Amino acid sequence: MLRAQLLDWYQANQRDLPWRRNKDPYSVWVSEIMLQQTRVAVVLDRHRQFLQRFPTITALAAAPEQEVLALWSGLGYYRRARMLHKAAQVVDQNLGGSLPTRPEELRNLPGIGAYTAAAIASIAHNEPFAVVDGNVERVLCRLAGWDATSRSSPAALRRNIDVLASQLLDPRHPGDFNQAMMELGATVCLPRNPQCLVCPIAAHCATRGEHKTAPRAPMLTREIAYALSLRDRNSFRDILLEQRPATVSVMPSMWELPALRDASIPDQHLRMQVRHAIMQVNYSVRIRTVDEDEVPTLTVAAAGDRRWVPLDTVSALPLTGLARKVLTRAHLFALPSQPGRKPVESAQQHPTARL
Ligand code: ADE
Repeated sequence: MLRAQLLDWYQANQRDLPWRRNKDPYSVWVSEIMLQQTRVAVVLDRHRQFLQRFPTITALAAAPEQEVLALWSGLGYYRRARMLHKAAQVVDQNLGGSLPTRPEELRNLPGIGAYTAAAIASIAHNEPFAVVDGNVERVLCRLAGWDATSRSSPAALRRNIDVLASQLLDPRHPGDFNQAMMELGATVCLPRNPQCLVCPIAAHCATRGEHKTAPRAPMLTREIAYALSLRDRNSFRDILLEQRPATVSVMPSMWELPALRDASIPDQHLRMQVRHAIMQVNYSVRIRTVDEDEVPTLTVAAAGDRRWVPLDTVSALPLTGLARKVLTRAHLFALPSQPGRKPVESAQQHPTARL
């Protein structure tokens, strides 16, 4: 009964997402990796761009890592992209270019854990494995009346959740059932404001809105400041960027704006303020324009490579999400135009691009 109610609701209410249209295992794989830490609304466009540039596992395997990271720019958690790339190379070189179908084989690939393996196997191959992400965990705890905030035995709770997920799974439609559970968690059984009146399985639910969810971890705030430094040379407009060292743990080898020594920027030099959240930290970011000859005195000496980059090539670099955000807001970032789409106006011709 619960299965049929949930599946009927899913058929009628599911969001139209590109990776649901054809169940191509590669497309499902990329979507699941992107969705791990990124909202569906953001993933939609990025998934399309990624598959347009790397239409097959073989194409992804053959690409330089920097290009893969460039397409991941702004999605964060760049380790996901590096692992996806490595796994594509393993599939291409050792497995004839086809993803395995069984979860235990999928799990041998870099970056594919229990969750992703079950998702690919069930969605793309209709293998009967339950998928439990954060949303599904919340749905199951509410259904069963388990206190998800209890810290007393998280391992036992997690085991109970996995057992219940496997019991409920519809073995005839495991892919749709898993996606229906995720969809219910994402659109109806919301953390703070569950929409029980429209829930298709409310009749089976032990809590119906009474349920507590764990409080959000408090966000920290930090202030940082970066230099926006532009110069015109040989009919190119260049921007000064620097590459983070390959050895740092956070965003290694990604490109960013040079950091300023002093975050207090006189009003006449302050060009922009942006907010940027990374994990538990809310950054308040101040951007100052810096003339070429002021760069050595105003910026922190670069730990990695520092380079003047022609503006029309920056989108080919793996920029940090923050650098991409700042350049986008300043109308200095444009993706190369795509076949069949209205061309993006060149950043260099944009009226507000001349800062
Ligand atoms: N989150 C992760 N994978 C998903 C999927 N296939 N459908 C809905 N939400 C998801």
